[in-house]
Amino acid sequence: MLALEKLQSWVIEERLAGNPFSHGAALATVDKLGQSRTRMLGVHFDEQVYPRFHTSPTSRKVADLAGKQRASLTFAFQTSLRSVSLEGRLVELSKSQLDKDWLSLEPAFRRSYLIFGQTSGLVLESKQVLETALKKLPVDAELVRPDYFIGYQLVDIQRIAFYSVGKQAFAEHEVWTFDDLSKQWVQQFLVP
Ligand SMILES: Cc1cc2nc3c(=O)[nH]c(=O)nc-3n(C[C@H](O)[C@H](O)[C@H](O)COP(=O)(O)O)c2cc1C
Repeated sequence: MLALEKLQSWVIEERLAGNPFSHGAALATVDKLGQSRTRMLGVHFDEQVYPRFHTSPTSRKVADLAGKQRASLTFAFQTSLRSVSLEGRLVELSKSQLDKDWLSLEPAFRRSYLIFGQTSGLVLESKQVLETALKKLPVDAELVRPDYFIGYQLVDIQRIAFYSVGKQAFAEHEVWTFDDLSKQWVQQFLVP
């Protein structure tokens, strides 16, 4: 899909411009009472460049998504003064995808995750407890994905907005909308 390829190229250009977390995006969800919330995530792309991320079952986003799968992701490319916002539906990643993703992460991160991932977002009584548990973790424990490493992929994307502020008089606002009737993407430029 052309717009997703453009997103990926903007992620790469932002990284080359000096942002080491260019694949970071803010995920917006809404809870069952209608309270909206956002938080930063590391976003990865699969072969068809559909964005996906990983998280812990105890985080609030998981409860929000259990009620309503609709969500948005915004990449804020602050170094290149660009942003990309996507609106769609989040579906859980398959076990085989999670296994593959788990092994692609740095071993040190995987070891830490084995300690914090199960209770992420709950009240921390003492940081020492985490440090001690990490020291006691058996060698090679990180080779097996824990079931509390989960993730989602953004699918049924309805709208992707690219916004770019350059040196010219007007910023550029390009929006791709999926037309359900014709099953075609429509590209439009909006007044910035
Ligand atoms: C640089 C950075 C990267 C992060 N990456 C992730 C991530 O990939 N997955 C995740 O669940 N939380 C990540 N977080 C933490 C989230 O922003 C958030 O605090 C946490 O997931 C709790 O969110 P909740 O409101 O859904 O409970 C990251 C935070 C930062 C600052």
